[in-house]
Amino acid sequence: MIQKANRLNDVKEYYFSKKLREVAALRNEGKPIINIAIGSPDLAPSSAVIEAIQNAVSLPDAHQYQSYQGIPELRGGIANFYKENYNVSLNSASEILPLMGSKEGIMHISMAFLNKGDKVLIPNPGYPTYASVTNLVEAEPVLYNLNESTNWLPNFSEIEQQDLSKVKIMWINYPHMPTGAVASKEDFKQLIAFAKKHQILIVNDNPYSFILNEKPLSILEIEGAKEVAIELNSLSKTFNMAGWRVGMVVGDAEIIKTILQVKSNMDSGMFFGIQKGAVEAFKLSSDWFKAQNEIYKRRRALVWQIFDVLDCTYNKKIGGLFVWAKLPKGIQSEDVTDDLLYNKNVFITPGTIFGSNGEGYLRASLCVSEEVLTEVLKRIVTVKI
Ligand SMILES: Cc1ncc(COP(=O)(O)O)c(C=O)c1O
Repeated sequence: MIQKANRLNDVKEYYFSKKLREVAALRNEGKPIINIAIGSPDLAPSSAVIEAIQNAVSLPDAHQYQSYQGIPELRGGIANFYKENYNVSLNSASEILPLMGSKEGIMHISMAFLNKGDKVLIPNPGYPTYASVTNLVEAEPVLYNLNESTNWLPNFSEIEQQDLSKVKIMWINYPHMPTGAVASKEDFKQLIAFAKKHQILIVNDNPYSFILNEKPLSILEIEGAKEVAIELNSLSKTFNMAGWRVGMVVGDAEIIKTILQVKSNMDSGMFFGIQKGAVEAFKLSSDWFKAQNEIYKRRRALVWQIFDVLDCTYNKKIGGLFVWAKLPKGIQSEDVTDDLLYNKNVFITPGTIFGSNGEGYLRASLCVSEEVLTEVLKRIVTVKI
C-alpha cells in the first residue's frame, strides 16, 4: 500500500464533499431531499455573459494556451470594477492576477508566503479552506475567535495575548461567511494597523460584498493598505458564475508577482471564452446587483420564517448569501442538521463545520427558490427540536 503524504494527516475531506455523497445516497433511495446548505447561486448569469462565451468559442485562437496573467481586457475590466465600486486604483498590468476562482488563490498565496512551521491566523468560525490549505503547506493554523459579542470581528487584545512573531498571514473575510457580519472602514483601519504592527500579511477574502450589502468595501480602500494587505475577489456569487471558476487577487505589484511565481507553475491560463464572459460581467451596471438583491431579500424573508419555526434567533441587519441563526441554548447544530435531514428531508448546514464557535448555529443558503423554501417551511412546521 502506498502511503499518503504526511501533509494530509491534518486535512479531512471537505465536509460538503462527504455529506453530499450521503445526500445523493438518500436521494437514490427515493428521499426527496431539499438542499438549503450550499451557496452555489442558482440564478442565471447575465445574457451578455453567455453570449460572450458563445461567440468566443468559434474564434480560431480561443483554444490555445492563454496568458498566465489573463487577457489584458480582463485585467482592465477588473481595474475598472475596483475603481467604480470601491474607489480603489489598481495598475492593471501589475496589481491584478485573475484566478480560477478565489479558492485556488488561497493555495497560491499560502504556497507563495508560508514556510513549514510558519503560523497563520484563521477565523473561527470561518471558511474551512483557510485551515486545510495551511495544513497542506505544513504551516500552523492559529484560530482567532469571532463571536456575537464583538459582531464577529477580531478581538485584537485577545489575539495579542499570544506570541505573534511566527505569524505570517492573517485570513479575514468581510462580509463574513458564515455569519454575514460586515466590517466598516474603521474596522479595516484597525486591521491594517494590527498588520503593520506585527508585520503580517492580511488577506481579505471578499466574494460577498455585493450580496445584500448596502456599501461594498474593499480593504484596499484604506490608506497604506497595499503595504500589508491583498484581496481576493470572485465572480462566483457577484455574477452567478460559480461554476465558471473566475476570481482574482489584487494588491501590491511585488506580492502579486510572487503569487504569479507559484500560479504560473501550476496552470496554463484560464480558457479564453471564460475570460471574455467575465469581461462582460464587469461591464454590468448597478441595476444587476439591485435585481439580484431583490430576489435574495424575498428569499431571506422566507428563510427567516424557517428559522422562526426552529425557534432560532438571527440578526436581520447582516448581509451575504446566507442566514446565520442561533439555536435555542443547549441544542447542538449537528443534531438539528441530522434531524432535519433524516426526518424532514431538508439539508441545512451545521455551524460547527466552520469551527468550534459555530456550535449552536445553523447556516441556510439563499441560493434556493421561493417555491422550494416554501416547501421547506411546510415540511418543518411540525419539527420538534
Ligand atoms: C468565504 C469564501 N471564500 C472563498 C470561496 C470560494 O469562492 P470561489 O468560487 O471564488 O472559489 C467561498 C465559496 O463558497 C467562500 O464562501
